[in-house]
Amino acid sequence: MSDAGTLEEVEIRLLLEALRLRFGYDFRQYAADSLRRLIRGYLASTPWRHVSEIIPHLLHDGCVRNELIGALTVNTTGMFRDPGVFRFLARELFPLLATYPFVNIWHAGCSTGEEVYSLAILLQEAGLYDRCRIYATDLNPEALEAARAGVYPVGRLPEYAGAYVEAGGRGSFSDHYHARYDYFRLDPALRANVLFSTHNLATDAVFVETHLIFCRNVLIYFDRALQDRVLGLFLESLVEGGFLCLGSRESLLFSVIDEAMASVSGPERIYRREFTDRSGRGEDRKPRRQVRRAALPSGANDPGQDPWSSPGRPCPSAS
Ligand SMILES: C[S@@+](CC[C@H](N)C(=O)[O-])C[C@H]1O[C@@H](n2cnc3c(N)ncnc32)[C@H](O)[C@@H]1O
Repeated sequence: MSDAGTLEEVEIRLLLEALRLRFGYDFRQYAADSLRRLIRGYLASTPWRHVSEIIPHLLHDGCVRNELIGALTVNTTGMFRDPGVFRFLARELFPLLATYPFVNIWHAGCSTGEEVYSLAILLQEAGLYDRCRIYATDLNPEALEAARAGVYPVGRLPEYAGAYVEAGGRGSFSDHYHARYDYFRLDPALRANVLFSTHNLATDAVFVETHLIFCRNVLIYFDRALQDRVLGLFLESLVEGGFLCLGSRESLLFSVIDEAMASVSGPERIYRREFTDRSGRGEDRKPRRQVRRAALPSGANDPGQDPWSSPGRPCPSAS
């Protein structure tokens, strides 16, 4: 590696330490190549020439912290993304979920919420929404604020309406939003059973027992050790027979929980936690080990209470 490359490596480690020690965000186990690319991208948007020049600004300026978190977390998402996954869920898994008196769902890494509302729409159309409690978490407080608002650019409506049909939507997508000027607002009823909250998969614990976990397009940004940590959390959270849905480029192959999970649908990357008795019926189950439940950080559904926020000048982007 060149001197410049070595120096940049040192600077990146110092930057990540500053972020962790000052604000509690731990990016040390993110995939090195994409992290380097994202940091370089952020640097290019600033007047600074070296990664190390970001550090003093990060320590003393809340806006830089928010900008950096935004730059290091890729928030790309959309409604009914990979519609075949939603179609499969609605056709094959909803009838199973309907056998539970209540259903806990966790969207880990929910970004700005489109994935959460997509599932909520299909659950509502299937008559299952009322028995569901949906926990939608992300480490990025600004993404969560947008998720709570449920307001999106009208320009994406044609794409979403097509994906809704492909996902097996039973009615008309327009039944679920009101459009005004450049934006559309999703029906607030879709949010009634959703709790949006900060939760960091790199550092936080399991907080609820779940029947279905969505964690799509998040693990790809983590190194193997962090992927295994997160998958361990999911195994701990899932009831026996519960489902895990990963992104199209993610899999459990060679992971620490591979043995405990069965593939339900390869192309859709849907897995099911094995029953202890392996009969698949769940009868004569051994008592389930207790899930260590940590409380969600107190900022749940309250945009004014980001538990990691620190005093600083108001950020234009956060207003
Ligand atoms: C590409 S988006 C995926 C959004 C959605 N799941 C989808 O597939 O459309 C990745 C999300 O993971 C979140 N994320 C990254 N690291 C995280 C962590 N350690 N804990 C929780 N969320 C994280 C990012 O903030 C971002 O919103």
